[in-house]
Amino acid sequence: MIPMVDLKTQYHSLKSEIDSELSAVLENTQFILGPNVQQFETEAAVHLNVKHAISCASGTDALHLALLAAGIGPGDEVITSTFTFIATAEAIRYVGATPVFVDIDPKTFNINPQLVDKAINEKTRAILPVHLFGQPADMPSIQTLADKHDLIIIEDCAQSYGAKINGVVTGGIGLAGCHSFFPSKNLGCYGDGGMVTSNDDAMAEKIKILRNHGSAQRYHHDIIGYNSRLDEIQAAILRVKLRYIDEFNQNRYAAAQQYSEQLKDVVTPPFEDGIGNHVYHQYTILSPQRDLISKNLAENNIANAIYYPIPLHKQKVFASEYAGIHLPVSEQVASECLSLPVFPELREDQITQITNTIKSAF
Ligand SMILES: Cc1ncc(COP(=O)(O)O)c(C=O)c1O
Repeated sequence: MIPMVDLKTQYHSLKSEIDSELSAVLENTQFILGPNVQQFETEAAVHLNVKHAISCASGTDALHLALLAAGIGPGDEVITSTFTFIATAEAIRYVGATPVFVDIDPKTFNINPQLVDKAINEKTRAILPVHLFGQPADMPSIQTLADKHDLIIIEDCAQSYGAKINGVVTGGIGLAGCHSFFPSKNLGCYGDGGMVTSNDDAMAEKIKILRNHGSAQRYHHDIIGYNSRLDEIQAAILRVKLRYIDEFNQNRYAAAQQYSEQLKDVVTPPFEDGIGNHVYHQYTILSPQRDLISKNLAENNIANAIYYPIPLHKQKVFASEYAGIHLPVSEQVASECLSLPVFPELREDQITQITNTIKSAF
């Protein structure tokens, strides 16, 4: 069996470091907002070269807290991609704002800036690009639009930890970057976890207060906040994995190159637009024969997944509200995309086995 991600192999390769950090937390017994959280935030900020990194309970919460801290609320429109995980749009709803779904570029699967431009009106307050599958969105074009119309940018970096554009990390470009440490993410913990990055002092301060019951000082509550903290156990695990994240991302990249070399005549491999560097959270191909390929892989014990089978404007939760909207590129991509196993420990012989299995489907 080849899984989508092999967290067990990764755990075994880091076992001595992780086990010793975990037992130190258990001995210390300071489980919430302790030294590991503080050190992880400092180390992540240094690693990403951003001024502030504030951890929280999940990537979904990171988006929610960032939108709240940016002052986005009822009556505001937030332009985002329809081809993303539901959490991107849920967070916009949590603050009472309206998601405006825009179609994607057919090659990169990221939000199409020309269509963002068309969607801007007097209610638009923010653009929420998603760096989908680990490839940065076209931030130079999005930044130009945001500057022109005085809009806030909140980046969804759940899939792009460590990806950069011209040396600036995703999550360091907009007012805030929202990261997820869901176990399968490029930098993943062993439960739920998230983080907001920002170069804006006021924004960072607000998020710190919001994630901890509206409190900057113990038992002094200035606003209604949330219980959205990363716990010490997760922070300890993330501190270990942070030492290896660049190597992990390089391994993912190398795996993707091998895949593309072997698959280029059979399917449409991922397209790297060169705007930033791709960290391959997912390796996603396109093929009109997607279902045949998927079935053949499954029959040969090779995991594969469709990210995403239904664009957000077509999801049941949004379908009636967005009934008049047709976003053809996302709908077409959803019918042809297939994500293959990709993780830092994926071996060359496993990639060859996967690509041979794909070729044998035809
Ligand atoms: C694009 C995107 N945004 C947001 C999230 C939400 O992150 P989390 O699962 O940590 O809440 C995810 C991940 O699941 C994601 O892929």
